[in-house]
Order: sequence, then structure tokens, then C-alpha cells
Amino acid sequence: MTATNAIEIGEDGQAFDLNCFCVPKHYETDLEYVLIPYGVIQDRIERLARDIFQEFGQEPLTALCVLKGGYKFFSDLMDKINQLNCNQGQKSIPVSLDFIRLKSYENDQSSGQIQILGGDNLSTLKGRNVLIVEDIIDTGRTMVKLLSTLERYEPKSVRVASLLVKRREDNDRKPGFLPEYAGFIVPDKFVVGYALDYNEYFRDLNHICVISEEGIKKYSQ
Ligand code: HPA
Ligand code: MG
Repeated sequence: MTATNAIEIGEDGQAFDLNCFCVPKHYETDLEYVLIPYGVIQDRIERLARDIFQEFGQEPLTALCVLKGGYKFFSDLMDKINQLNCNQGQKSIPVSLDFIRLKSYENDQSSGQIQILGGDNLSTLKGRNVLIVEDIIDTGRTMVKLLSTLERYEPKSVRVASLLVKRREDNDRKPGFLPEYAGFIVPDKFVVGYALDYNEYFRDLNHICVISEEGIKKYSQ
């Protein structure tokens, strides 16, 4: 695959009125608006699954879910790939799943490496095609470190699927890193929902929303 296809949500993109959607009562005043409704997320993931299915060969794939934010995207993406595996007839891709968490090394910002917690022994990635599944790419620094750290385990190939990619104000409103598979390119605003959190809140919200000032105040640590 060459260029990344993604839905680009403009700076003044559609802001859906919260009153037109269902959101948990406990978050009613903590959100500004709905940026991406749950149904649109599902439709976009259906297409990402098709792109992945078509572009990968028949070789087994290891899908690596980056927790916690990536869990919903991962789960829905895997469901949709499984449906294609069952219903396409021509081919299917055997997929193994693994789950990791990332932790930056303290007092060491120059190593270019990141700590990978949980998951199987990473030496099982040797010779495998790996798909990293992330919720959001913001500065892109974490992803660059993760890719560099995974290289050590000699996978055959590594590709990245991220549901969201942020245009960064400090980068001429361009994304810091563009993955092979991107769901939506979004403005540089703090977004929550669909497993993306603010201090562990808002994962229990289905739509992707922009947090309000009140929400930031209420849930800041
Ligand atoms: N929301 C949630 N988590 C994040 C974000 C965001 O906008 N950017 C980086 N991590
Ligand atoms: Mg994340």
C-alpha cells in the first residue's frame, strides 16, 4: 500500500449536537460535542478490515492490540476481519492476537526505545507479519519508538492501524506519523470515547467526542 486513505475531519468539521445522540448521563456536561458517531466508526472499521484483508497475503498475521485505548477498535476490527475470513471464499488470513501496554522509560528520553508490558514472549514475533492496532497517533513519538523496539525481534513485516491520527498544531497541522491504515485524521483537540480516555474516564462512552472545559476540570488529577 502506498498512500494512506483516511477520512479527514476539518478544523471546522461537523460538530454533532450532543442532544441528538445518547451519551451516558454521568458525562452529559463533560462533553462539548460528538465528533465521530459510533455508527460511522463501525462503517469506517468495516472498510479498514477489507483493506487489510485484501492487502495482506495468506500468511498468518499477529495482531498486537495496544491497551487500554485500542481495545474497542481492536475488537471490532478483528470481528470484521473474521467475517471476511468466513465469507470471502477465496482466501482467509489466520490471525493470532496479543495485547500489550506501553511504558516510557523514566529518565531516559534519548534511547528511542519503549517498554512493552504484558503480551507473550516477543521473540514469537520473529518471522511473522505484525499488525499494531492503536487508538490514536498524536505526536507519533510513541509509535516510532514502538516500531524501533519491535525491530529487535525480527518480525517479517510490521504495519500499523490507528483509528485516529491527529493533525498537530506544532507540525503545520500535519500528522506527526502516518500509519498504513488510518481511520480518521482529526483536529488537534482532546478527544475521548470509544475506549479513549481522559485520566481513565470516558472509556465507557460509544461516540468519539471532544471533552468540555468542565470535563477537563472535573476529571483532572
Ligand atoms: N485523547 C485521548 N488520548 C490521547 C489523545 C486524545 O486526544 N491524544 C493522545 N492520547
Ligand atoms: Mg493509545
